[in-house]
Amino acid sequence: MQITVDNNQIIGKADKMLYGHFIEHFHRQIYGGLFDVGSPLSDEDGFRTDVIAALRDIRVPVLRWPGGCFVSAYNWKYGVGKERRTAFDKAWRVEEPNTFGTDEYIKFCRKIGCEPYICTNAGTGTAEEMSDWVEYCNIANEGFFAKWRAKNASKAPYGVKYWSIGNENWGGHEVGAKTSEQWGALVREAAKMMHRVDPSIELSAASIADLDWNLNLLRSAGQLLDWVSIHDYWDFSPDGVQHASYEEVIAKTGKRLSRSIDRVRSYLTALELHDKIKIAYDEWNLRGWYHPNVMNNVHRDGYYSKEEYLAPRDRNDDNKVYTMADAVFSACFLNTCLRNCDIVGMACFSPVVNTRGCICTHKEGIVLRPTYYVFYLFANLLGENVLDVWNADTPLSDTGDMEMSDVVVTRTKEGYAVSAINKDAENECEIGLRFLDAEISKCRIHCLNGKSKNSYNDIGKTEVGISVSEWTKFGGKVTLPPHSVNVIELV
Ligand code: AHR
Repeated sequence: MQITVDNNQIIGKADKMLYGHFIEHFHRQIYGGLFDVGSPLSDEDGFRTDVIAALRDIRVPVLRWPGGCFVSAYNWKYGVGKERRTAFDKAWRVEEPNTFGTDEYIKFCRKIGCEPYICTNAGTGTAEEMSDWVEYCNIANEGFFAKWRAKNASKAPYGVKYWSIGNENWGGHEVGAKTSEQWGALVREAAKMMHRVDPSIELSAASIADLDWNLNLLRSAGQLLDWVSIHDYWDFSPDGVQHASYEEVIAKTGKRLSRSIDRVRSYLTALELHDKIKIAYDEWNLRGWYHPNVMNNVHRDGYYSKEEYLAPRDRNDDNKVYTMADAVFSACFLNTCLRNCDIVGMACFSPVVNTRGCICTHKEGIVLRPTYYVFYLFANLLGENVLDVWNADTPLSDTGDMEMSDVVVTRTKEGYAVSAINKDAENECEIGLRFLDAEISKCRIHCLNGKSKNSYNDIGKTEVGISVSEWTKFGGKVTLPPHSVNVIELV
């Protein structure tokens, strides 16, 4: 493929929040995951120090919490204060100990050096409860909730900048689902009250690539919003054991990956809100989470037992599921966000620890799954200015075939950084890079790969990692190994 780069044409500034993450009160993400009280690997606050180090190494810019479906029946007030009240989690049908709440979450964000991003309960919750939460976090010392925080944890307010109203309230699976008319009205009232508490916060609201939902939401509350949140997962296992093959995953890349972005962009543009509101893709992952028998508890003999809906969740922890297919897909998704960075301002990998996450914890340590290294390369090496590129060859996609390489060029302080993906399972590919107005003298390639397309990492087994070449003379092209994710530094 021959790429021409107009290095004077910036198509957008890529916010670092495109490399964000999400964590939910589900299975072992929090309890027994990043919050592992009593583990010899945890610090004085019960946080896993190996997880903190790994998250700092990928420069996590923002961490969304506490859900996800969990939040739509969550009472945040049970999770603060000296006496915590346990609850029954009506989303995932387990007891919530509430020992990890707002104060622990903020402390964890401070330790990894990221922005907090709180998703509020718009399922059973009210506008008042959502704005009370903003009071608890962001008011210095006026009113009960600010004083409660000062007594519990911190005299200084937390200054939480990013807030979302609700999570997938468009869907029948969500506790407290709403019609689009109900949704617009609730978001307007909640946004009004939350801004009355702290006008400096940035607000998102749960959305989806649906015209009716967005017309109601944006006509009712568009002037009060900075973001709309959308979510996507692409591979849903029928039994927690079968998953899409490498080839089936590659077939999900290409133009399909921007479908939701293209639709929401058109809604925002039609309502002339595209300069005011950005897209927060604040849940995305190739792999849908596996949690059967919980949303629809109709069963041949009545309903599913606790064992029938709890035990299968452990299948998410099978590290051999997460291969170079996940890394190649995740890199293609992030390239799609980079190409659309004029309208996509945030993306949160869902989730970051355990379940389908890029980090898997176990008693003796952690496993870094292939997608972890995609974030390591993108967050540490790519620049914020995304440049205009075009493919001088006849794009394969015009013939209906899948492009087997995916390239985004960014400008860095030193020169350029190119994210170049070779999706082909068997063959290496050559990428030609011609800059219209720049002389490139040398290059260095950071190559994420494994021995095969199905390589994965597990406890005591590291097949996938990053190799870095020496700086070499740049001759106008590079060769990429099969099934590889690469960042090429050019100066
Ligand atoms: O499967 C996990 C769920 O996916 C999240 O809780 C929710 O936000 C999304 O539907």
